[in-house]
Amino acid sequence: MHRILFVCLGNICRSPSAEAVTRAKAPHLSLDSAGTAGYHIGAPPYGPMQKAAKPRGYDLSPLRARQFTPEDFHTFDLIIAMDSENLEDIEAQRPTGAQTPVTLFTTYIGQTGTAVPDPYYTRDFDGCLDLIEHCADALIKDLS
Ligand code: 4NP
Repeated sequence: MHRILFVCLGNICRSPSAEAVTRAKAPHLSLDSAGTAGYHIGAPPYGPMQKAAKPRGYDLSPLRARQFTPEDFHTFDLIIAMDSENLEDIEAQRPTGAQTPVTLFTTYIGQTGTAVPDPYYTRDFDGCLDLIEHCADALIKDLS
């Protein structure tokens, strides 16, 4: 379970943050992130998201957005979606026979059916990072 892909919609706010936060806490894991949509392919994480992450010690600047592909089911051991719409979009692309689990990030903190709210719309970048840090700690504990 050591190759993990984080997925959100745009791959410029939540999933790159989840990738960077989890990497900082567990450098031994092989991590990546992607978006179900292709709007921001090749773009760095959203400026306000980078700005909120930096004082916490997370440098998002090297990351670049890419779109989720069905091939990711073969590349990763675990796919973690930020909300249930992302999860449904990912499951709709599951190749026949692929066994890779797709989970919601918030299930690791015992919140079934909830989501990491999209700060692109809520503008609550710090609240998003608080939740991601909490979920990342729980994920790492679950893996160990
Ligand atoms: P993310 O947030 O899925 O957390 O990266 C979004 C960023 C951009 C858009 C949607 C969500 N957008 O529609 O451009």
